[in-house]
Amino acid sequence: MKIAPSILSADFGNLEKSVKLVETAEWLHVDVMDGHFVPNITFGPVVVKGLRTYTNKVLDTHLMITNPTKYIKEFIKAGSNRITFHIETTNNPLEVIRLIRSLGAKVGISIKPKTSVDTIIDLLPFVDQILVMSVEPGFGGQKFMNDSLKKIERINQLKEEYNKDLLIVVDGGINKETALLCKKAGADVLVAGSYIFNSENPNERIRTLR
Ligand code: DX5
Ligand code: ZN
Repeated sequence: MKIAPSILSADFGNLEKSVKLVETAEWLHVDVMDGHFVPNITFGPVVVKGLRTYTNKVLDTHLMITNPTKYIKEFIKAGSNRITFHIETTNNPLEVIRLIRSLGAKVGISIKPKTSVDTIIDLLPFVDQILVMSVEPGFGGQKFMNDSLKKIERINQLKEEYNKDLLIVVDGGINKETALLCKKAGADVLVAGSYIFNSENPNERIRTLR
């Protein structure tokens, strides 16, 4: 299991220190919010650029923004390795996928808790990851929604036919108990914010999840 600590729960007064605290993780999950697609605002490409100066980790950038196409280039230029956009934000997902690929980053699509897996089936062959939101996007520290397990199972079944290399990423409410449920359902990567950062020993939490 790959673990992606979400820096949404990190200490923004000392982000470098927070990143050093999760050195055993494979990826760093970067939550970008625009106050429009979600009711919260976080940060833009300058923070990704800053992170890039002191970490070599895969920067897994989760765009919770209304107009992803407009900002994708800037994020990749700043150092994002993987870009996940929300299916709910575009009428032309293939165009967004092509744009991300043309700039050399890996591509992910995310679905909100109320969005059906049906909306992304045709796109599975063209992406590297599907990010299943297991809370309503916008804030850390929410409770895991069990309905997401059925979606993970379904995508896991679809992998066989559509894309064997597809990674299933689960984001929201991950802890020791929900991680196990996600693993059983077929998840490959777990995003966790509060569980990892609200701890004296983040690397121990990462080990537990893994
Ligand atoms: C929520 C974000 C998540 C969030 C997860 O919109 O996409 O990445 O940081 O936080 P926890 O793990 O605390 O639920
Ligand atoms: Zn996220």
